[in-house]
Amino acid sequence: MPDESHFATAPELVPVPDDYAPYSRTSLKQYQERYRRSIEEPDAFWTEELRRLDWIKTPTEISNVNWDPDNLSIEWFADGVLNVSYNCIDRHLDQRGNDVALIWEGDNPGLHSAITYRQLHNHVCRMANELKKIGVTKGDRVTLYMPMIPEALYAMLACTRIGAVHSVVFGGFSPDSLAGRIKDCESEFVITADQGVRGNKPIPLKENVDRAIEIAGGVKAVLCVRHTGADIGWVEGRDFWHHELTLQVDANCPPEPMNAEDPLFILYTSGSTGKPKGVLHTTGGYLLWAAMTFDTVFEVERGEVFWCTADIGWVTGHTYLTYGPLANGVTTLVFEGIPTYPKADRFWEVCDKHKVNVLYTAPTALRALMREGDALVEAHDLSSLRLLGSVGEPINPEAWAWYHRVVGKGKCPIVDTWWQTETGGCMITPLPGAHDLKPGAASKPMYGIEPALVDGEGHFIEGEGELTGNLVIKRSWPGQMRTVYGDHKRFAETYFSTYRGLYFTGDGARRDADHYWWITGRVDDVLNVSGHRLGTAEIESALVEHVDVAEAAVVGYPHDIKGQGVYCYVTLNAGVEPTAEMEAELKAHVRKEIGPVATPDVIQFAPALPKTRSGKIMRRILRKIAENQLDALGDTSTLAEPGVVDDLVANRPQG
Ligand code: PRX
Repeated sequence: MPDESHFATAPELVPVPDDYAPYSRTSLKQYQERYRRSIEEPDAFWTEELRRLDWIKTPTEISNVNWDPDNLSIEWFADGVLNVSYNCIDRHLDQRGNDVALIWEGDNPGLHSAITYRQLHNHVCRMANELKKIGVTKGDRVTLYMPMIPEALYAMLACTRIGAVHSVVFGGFSPDSLAGRIKDCESEFVITADQGVRGNKPIPLKENVDRAIEIAGGVKAVLCVRHTGADIGWVEGRDFWHHELTLQVDANCPPEPMNAEDPLFILYTSGSTGKPKGVLHTTGGYLLWAAMTFDTVFEVERGEVFWCTADIGWVTGHTYLTYGPLANGVTTLVFEGIPTYPKADRFWEVCDKHKVNVLYTAPTALRALMREGDALVEAHDLSSLRLLGSVGEPINPEAWAWYHRVVGKGKCPIVDTWWQTETGGCMITPLPGAHDLKPGAASKPMYGIEPALVDGEGHFIEGEGELTGNLVIKRSWPGQMRTVYGDHKRFAETYFSTYRGLYFTGDGARRDADHYWWITGRVDDVLNVSGHRLGTAEIESALVEHVDVAEAAVVGYPHDIKGQGVYCYVTLNAGVEPTAEMEAELKAHVRKEIGPVATPDVIQFAPALPKTRSGKIMRRILRKIAENQLDALGDTSTLAEPGVVDDLVANRPQG
């Protein structure tokens, strides 16, 4: 996290740059009027908005929502019928068939390709027919475990074409994590590739799939894309090569008419307790939210290139890499590699090479690239950039200022978009051209979004001037998740019970006197490590699965590049030595159990953990020690054994 001096590096208010005027589609006045209408006349507002999509049957019902946790039900456009792949491909064919739908840039800088909407149609129809051929039918869950190659998007769209529900699992997750996700949604089909490549290193995707299937069971068929050509294991009768099946199927596949409330996809995300939840999004509301927010926030015109650097394993890769751009018929860039390969100028090289107009990335990447110096950016022609976006975590003012000055040359607005897997798309963000920017502020609510602040007891914190509290949303919006797959009770408990009848985001926020919103970070036991969400409970349970571990507690602490780092307190079983080897082994163990994103940064061996007399671990104290705020430990008198804390403080690893 930045120290105090970093806050001096960004101005408090950055007016909309004059250079942006030619691109701006929404003035402040227009935003205010549309926002007012979205709140005061929602039915009229959404009746107009839903024209953004092509419906097989246009809905007449707008919303039917009950946020009472005992009767929780959320429906939007319930009598509407449509197909997502039709909206993302077919309807553009007449006018934009030869426009580039996606540009692919390989990990190897020598590899790239461009796929037009017509070609996309062909690929997606074929893959949809391949899925049918291996037995996938409407409503089936299909797990995707893919590298960032065009086939990943074909696979998502192919599922939507036939009404199958995709569940994309990030390619960096371990076989165990993949197995858990396959099992949870009883997925009988997996789409993968032989290998992925990132930073010139192979990722054994198919091998991981084979191991995951051994653990999870129940998988009937695997469709495998040949990407690197590596030798891989093969199960006859279960595994199918995409490049072989594609020759056997028709290039036409009629889009399946789907009800607006039919499930579209499941995406697993971490919460404060238990295993990751399957966030379920449905067809009509999600697609409209993706299409509307993409268009409103990024204002991408035909012929422009939009680059979202997120992996499709995360929600940003769903909404702003895939569905938002394609529903709007523009060009999306798919990048297979990492920002630092072959050199730490790869992002800038790609922006220059493909003449990227809008770049949407995460603060963690910016912080890492900022360290490499300005010369790497300045070596490339970035004059095509007109707008920059940030997502995933609060952006510190120093990174904001660097992004604005060095990358955007002072002429590009920065849209700092706050949202969540659960919200489907942007919720609080400035609109370029409409809002003067405040570095670090997510700024203003999207149309239809009514944010509010509550205190610990659920009382609204209201009034003029600056306010701080827990961030809740007061009314439903089309892109809202509909349930936790297979566990509606958990959905109600997690989001609607803390503050009855309100959607609780899990984030803290501040609203300043100008009514700009600032997200201050999670207020629950969820970590945000390099923009990736991790539950402390998941890491703890991975640690205690190790034979030598008796107990573990995990907290976050400020980390310069990652935003938050993973700090683990571990009590070993009696007789086991807390050695450097054991530390390395535990780090490797968590990597193996969950995936590299969860690798602990710090392991502190602790003879005991601080607990209340009723046996509850005092996380507040553990957080303070991890943050090195040793004079802010607070009252330790309620602890069962106060001496435990002294020991932790005395033995805190340095650095
Ligand atoms: O804490 C907030 C943070 O990321 C969380 C959501 O994570 P996830 O579901 O993985 O989605 C990430 C991509 C949308 C939020 O609860 N977060 C996301 N965007 C921002 C942010 N925090 C501050 N500013 C943001 N722009």
